[in-house]
Order: sequence, then C-alpha cells, then structure tokens
Amino acid sequence: MLINLCRLLQTALLLSLQYAAVTAKMMSKADLHAKQAVAAQRFALEARPASRGTVKNITFTNPRASEFYVDGSTLPEIDFDVGPSWSGLLPISNATNETRQLFFWFFPPGPQGSTEDLIFWTNGGPGCSSLEGLLQENGPLSWSWGQAKATPNEFSWTNLSSLLFIEQPIGTGFSQGEPNIKNEDDLAVQLVGFMQQFLEVFSELKGLNFYVSGESYAGMYVPYIVNHIFENPTALDLVLKGFWISDPVIGWDVIQSELPAVNFVHKYENVFSLNQTFMAQIDAAAERCGYSTYSATHVTFPPKGLLPLPGKSTEGDPGCFLWEEVFDAALLVNPAFDIYRIFDTFPILWDVLGFPGSFEQVQVSPIYFDREDVKRAIHAPVNVTWTECSNINVFPRGDASLPSGYTVLPSIIEKSERSVIVHGLGDYILISEGMTWNGLQGFQTPILNDSFIVDGVGALGNMHSERGLTYFEVALSGHM
Ligand SMILES: *[C@@H]1O[C@H](CO)[C@@H](O)[C@H](O)[C@H]1NC(C)=O
Ligand SMILES: *[C@@H]1O[C@H](CO)[C@@H](O)[C@H](O)[C@H]1NC(C)=O
Ligand SMILES: *[C@@H]1O[C@H](CO)[C@@H](O)[C@H](O)[C@H]1NC(C)=O
Ligand SMILES: *[C@@H]1O[C@H](CO)[C@@H](O)[C@H](O)[C@H]1NC(C)=O
Ligand SMILES: *[C@@H]1O[C@H](CO)[C@@H](O)[C@H](O)[C@H]1NC(C)=O
Ligand SMILES: *[C@@H]1O[C@H](CO)[C@@H](O)[C@H](O)[C@H]1NC(C)=O
Ligand SMILES: *[C@@H]1O[C@H](CO)[C@@H](O)[C@H](O)[C@H]1NC(C)=O
Repeated sequence: MLINLCRLLQTALLLSLQYAAVTAKMMSKADLHAKQAVAAQRFALEARPASRGTVKNITFTNPRASEFYVDGSTLPEIDFDVGPSWSGLLPISNATNETRQLFFWFFPPGPQGSTEDLIFWTNGGPGCSSLEGLLQENGPLSWSWGQAKATPNEFSWTNLSSLLFIEQPIGTGFSQGEPNIKNEDDLAVQLVGFMQQFLEVFSELKGLNFYVSGESYAGMYVPYIVNHIFENPTALDLVLKGFWISDPVIGWDVIQSELPAVNFVHKYENVFSLNQTFMAQIDAAAERCGYSTYSATHVTFPPKGLLPLPGKSTEGDPGCFLWEEVFDAALLVNPAFDIYRIFDTFPILWDVLGFPGSFEQVQVSPIYFDREDVKRAIHAPVNVTWTECSNINVFPRGDASLPSGYTVLPSIIEKSERSVIVHGLGDYILISEGMTWNGLQGFQTPILNDSFIVDGVGALGNMHSERGLTYFEVALSGHM
C-alpha cells in the first residue's frame, strides 16, 4: 500500500514536471514580453505627464557663465538631448595666486523640478569622481555597467531640483592642483571656497535651499561639510536644509566591515556558496575574535549607547580580518564577486567608466570621460588622464578626522530640517548591520520589517524616521 502510494506520487511528480516543462516551452515571446512590461510598469509612476515638457533653463546674467555652457545635444555618443547644463573648472578661492580648481557639472531642474532647491552630490573613495554618480546613479542620463549606450534616467534627481556634481577634493577626476588636506575640516574649507567662487559666476543660484548629498566615503565628507556650513553661517549665500548619505562611512572599519562580515555571509549563504569547512572556520574565528559576543551584546535593540571597539584596533586585530578572508573565499568560487553588489556573477559587465565591480576593468575600451571629444564638450582639461577613482592620495598623509558618527553627525541631524541615511542591503563593502546609528543612542523605536514601500510594488526593504533622521534599507540594492 505504502509502496503504491509512493509510486503514485512519483508518477504525479513526473507528470507535473513534464507539464511544467511543456508550459515553459509554450510561453510565447509575446507572453514573455507582456510579463516584462508589467514588471517594469510597477516601477513607473502612475501619473505620467503626457509630454516631457522642457527643462527649466536658467539665464545666468554673469557673462562668465556662458564659458561653461554645455549644449546637451552635442555630447559624444549620446543620441538624445540631455538639455542645458554648465560644467568646467573653478578655483577654490579668489586669491590671485590660486592654482587649485575643482571640476563641476551643474544641471538645472527638469520640468517637474523645483527652482528653489539645489542639491550638491559627491562620490566617495576617497578620490572617486562624482561623474560616476552623474552617469550611473542619480544624474539626468544613465550609462551604467552593461549598458550598450546611454539612456535618459527616469529617476534623475533633476526631476526634483537643480543638481550640482563636483569632483572633490583636489586630486579627484579633472580637478587641478596638489592635494594638501589633512582632514575633513580642510576638505570642507576648500569645498566651501569653491562654492563661493561658483555662486559668483552662477549668482542666480544664491539664496536657494541647499541639500548636501553623497555616498560611501562621502559619509565622512558630507557631515563635515554640513557641519562647517552650520558653523560658518555667513560663508555661503545658500539656505542649508539637510543632507543625504548612502552606504556611508560613519564608523570604524572594524565595526562597519569586519564585525558584521560573518553574519552577513550567513544571511546570504546561498549567494556566497562558500564551503562548509570554510563556514565552520569563520564561525569559529568570529567566536575567537569576540565578534559573535559583541553582536549579541551591543548590536541590539534598544541600543545601549556608543558602540565600543570589539578589540584593540579600529581596523581589526591580527587574525580577525574576517571581511578579507570572506572576500578571498568568495573570489575563489565566484571570480566575478562584486563587493559592491554581492548578487553579481560571471560575466563581469563592460563599464563605460572602467570600474564595473570589485576591480578595475581589464577589457580595452575607451573610458567615456577620458575621450578628448568628451573632455572638450564639457570644458574639462584635455591633458588629464581621467579615471573613476584617483591613483594619487587625496589626503597625502591620510585623513586625520574621526568617523563622522562619533563627531559631527549627531549635531548636524539636530540642526538639519531633513537628514537621510540610506543603505543597500546587497552591499558587502560597508554592511548595514553594524551601522547602528549611535550618536543619539540610536532609534528609540525599532525599525519595522517590510516598512519601505514602493508605490505599486510593495515592500522593498525597511525604513524608520525618528527625531529628525530618516533611515532606509533597500532590498536588492548594492553599494552604488
Ligand atoms: C522625470 O522627468 C521626466 C521628464 O519630465 C519624466 O519623463 C519622468 O517620468 C520623470 N520621472 C519620475 C520618476 O517622475
Ligand atoms: C539655456 O540658457 C542659456 C543661457 O543661460 C542659453 O545659452 C541656452 O541656449 C539655453 N538652452 C536651451 C536649451 O534653452
Ligand atoms: C575674496 O573672497 C573673500 C571671502 O569670500 C572676500 O571676503 C573678499 O572680498 C574676496 N575678494 C575679492 C577681491 O573678491
Ligand atoms: C598665495 O600667496 C599667499 C601669500 O602670498 C600664500 O600664503 C599662499 O600659500 C599662496 N597660495 C598658493 C596656492 O600658492
Ligand atoms: C573551502 O574554502 C576554502 C576557502 O576558500 C578553501 O581554501 C578550501 O580549499 C575549500 N575546500 C573545499 C573542499 O572546497
Ligand atoms: C594641463 O594643462 C594646464 C594648462 O592648460 C596646466 O596648468 C596643467 O599643469 C597641465 N596638467 C598636466 C598634468 O600636465
Ligand atoms: C524581521 O526579519 C528578520 C529576518 O529578516 C527576522 O529575523 C526578524 O525576526 C523579523 N522581525 C520581526 C519583528 O518580525
């Protein structure tokens, strides 16, 4: 009887497998395309304007502004009109002997955007170019890794506001001069110095609401810049409203990378696919290094206070560099392993900016911003070899500032009208689990699961807003 039942089940299983195979094969191209269209539509906004309208162009009365004007229909390789924008180099002070200049690219708002607001964006590194954000994150055109050609970015921040990308600090991208900054305060002074020069040329932007944003190492830059502006309220003719930092560096390496690495691997065990021997070995190491006990004791809700160091070092103690051990093991089974987005597998995608994952691109292909025609179109110096992340150290003797989470972050949250921290849950370079917001003893109410809701899609992560800080964790998102 039992045997018969087993046979029956086996037959039923086989039949259902066959059926599944047949239906999969039968799905027509039209049906597949319909599925794809519905899936994409969920991420589209319901109320789409019938016409795209025109960009809110700004007339700058200072004749110098016209030197920087970029005609968006003439950008090499881009087959649509990006609209009016302004780019080039401006000095970081008005001293007559000033030789240091930062490269900027300014975009006025799109048809639905506000002309009252100005968003500043910087990438991190240190030494990585903000033109990466422009092309691959929040700018009006999108040319991401794997994309054969550029497309308009439906989710450009120019839909909200004017947007200013700056390659900073000195030593980054097209920016000119010898880096000499010692810490984040020096960086803020130079950036504010540049902004003063910028506002003299683009004086119609004076008085706007100002939002400072950036990602990764900009978790250091942005809070210190914001703090500097709050402490020198007359330095800039802008109304500072708040800041946004995504996947930010705000704490010690040991806390943001080493400590949470093993828990992170367990959370995404099937993505990493590391062997059982190795898993047992790193679990033992996490115990030995005190990371497991630390997580259970300190990374808890309600928060107990500032996170102490788990060992003796801010980087990690000898034998406890588990982030690096996991990275090596991950590369052994997945040579395309991308620390910035763990879901990537072979092949490594081509990247028009030459930095498609954990490592720089080895395929030979011209990097967009290193083409002479592109440099000429955007008033960039043609004699600079542009790379996404600089080969020289933009802090020649290191960055002497403490992580922003231990210094300026709490007070700038208090002073800002809006403060936003965002984290991509598929990011392995900086891991959200260790990133308990600690300045004000963290959140007093817990972050609820599935609380980040995308219209028409549903839950896509978690969010929480409390005492002036909004925190988002985005599912399926990487570092960029
Ligand atoms: C952004 O603006 C463009 C141009 O008006 C529009 O096509 C697009 O739908 C807007 N995107 C969003 C998310 O509203
Ligand atoms: C935008 O304004 C500038 C002057 O500020 C002008 O030179 C340019 O032609 C305008 N572009 C468009 C597309 O209207
Ligand atoms: C140079 O900039 C400083 C600081 O913004 C300002 O006080 C000074 O008047 C400027 N000098 C000139 C010649 O524009
Ligand atoms: C410009 O000159 C001043 C004083 O003459 C000096 O202190 C400063 O270092 C010089 N700046 C640069 C960038 O050479
Ligand atoms: C397990 O992974 C470790 C770390 O990558 C590696 O050294 C070891 O050879 C692997 N063992 C097996 C059986 O695959
Ligand atoms: C590039 O040219 C500018 C002047 O056009 C010069 O000031 C600068 O030093 C040059 N840079 C390099 C790296 O040659
Ligand atoms: C939230 O989700 C995590 C798994 O992602 C789970 O461990 C936890 O128990 C959930 N919390 C609540 C309150 O349901």
